[in-house]
Amino acid sequence: MTATAPDLSNSLDGQLRRRASRVIPGGMWGHMRAAAVPAGYPQFFAGGDGARVRDVDGREYIDFMCSWGPIILGHRHPEVEAAARAQLDAGDCLDGPTEHAVRLAERMVETIPHASWVLFQKNGSDAMTSCATLARAATGRRKIVLAEGAYHGAVPWCSPSAVGVTAEDRAHLIHYTYNDIESLDAAVTEAGEDLAAVIVSAFKHDLGIRQELPVSDFARAARAHCDRVGAALVLDDVRAGFRLNLGGSWEQVGVRPDLAAYSKAIANGYPLSAVTGSERFRPAAEKAFFTGSFWYSGAPMAAAVTVLDILHRENAPARLERAGRRFGSGLTESAARHGFEVRLSGPPAIPLMQFADDPDARLGETLCQQALARGVYLHPKHNMFLSLAHTDEVIDTALQAIDEAFATLARSRPVRP
Ligand SMILES: Cc1ncc(COP(=O)(O)O)c(C=O)c1O
Repeated sequence: MTATAPDLSNSLDGQLRRRASRVIPGGMWGHMRAAAVPAGYPQFFAGGDGARVRDVDGREYIDFMCSWGPIILGHRHPEVEAAARAQLDAGDCLDGPTEHAVRLAERMVETIPHASWVLFQKNGSDAMTSCATLARAATGRRKIVLAEGAYHGAVPWCSPSAVGVTAEDRAHLIHYTYNDIESLDAAVTEAGEDLAAVIVSAFKHDLGIRQELPVSDFARAARAHCDRVGAALVLDDVRAGFRLNLGGSWEQVGVRPDLAAYSKAIANGYPLSAVTGSERFRPAAEKAFFTGSFWYSGAPMAAAVTVLDILHRENAPARLERAGRRFGSGLTESAARHGFEVRLSGPPAIPLMQFADDPDARLGETLCQQALARGVYLHPKHNMFLSLAHTDEVIDTALQAIDEAFATLARSRPVRP
């Protein structure tokens, strides 16, 4: 099979990479390195509109990453832009928060059944770290039980990397296997009287492996353990929050957390995260110290109020699920037409596509490169994201291009002896 990575060395992207490699360690930080996009993918972008993004060389793609999650309404949604712009024009970073902070907290408390208060921050890592701190502050205990392989942020206590992390940073963490009640029981038993929190992800969305939705018996077992010993059930809804259910992603399994972390989609791309909590955790939230220089910024909160209004008005989770199903079944059918088997996993609105029998994701990467060449931005290992801008027409246009990508892949497939 021939690799299809275009030569970008003379492009503006190529030039920026060369310059970046001199002044940015490794040429790039973060998830574009860790969850590496295939060779030939652009690293630098110039803009986005609706379901499309444009790289610095002017090539446009139908975007199935949605900025790795934040874009839920489409890039530069006009109502959200207008709300953010009005606050930017009046001043974004002031001596304290704007009235949007109160309006947004009220709106979130109305929308999320377990929430009776909200704290605002910037990133998902901030929100998850605050949840751990609040659980410990409220219970006076230390142990945190969390799923093996689950991503909760890029800070020492939970980073997937061990570089620069000490054993002390990770002291008091005990792991279980997602959806495995026995392993959860064992972790909780090991924590004993010292259990402060059980952390759960909205669904199992570890990089490069089949995604799993939460099983309701498992969710109930997690809730029961926390109730029995007075620990906090913490839902990490950073990735899935508002895409699956406006009330929280575990509404589907009928289990409510005590604390939840939101970020990606809440402001359609503006930097904001939030911790929501139940009444029992209010005193701890009043006592603990959380802040950041930019945590009062008004424009992201103005954007988020408008995002929530639109998500309610458009019945967003149902529409996103429908769009995801159309995309997923189109992918599966297209693959089959060209002699491949692909497996979709995770919720339809946040799907992961993998080829059967593709352990090193080589087929997946080549398909993505072929799709990119035809104007569709996919990811072979990380879950993708649908937005409300992914209309039937946009999805069908993308599927047509992806079908051509599968056809090319089939022609270059090595014949097995
Ligand atoms: C489930 C989950 N938790 C936490 C985080 C960390 O969020 P952030 O990158 O905004 O710090 C992420 C980011 O991808 C995530 O997907």
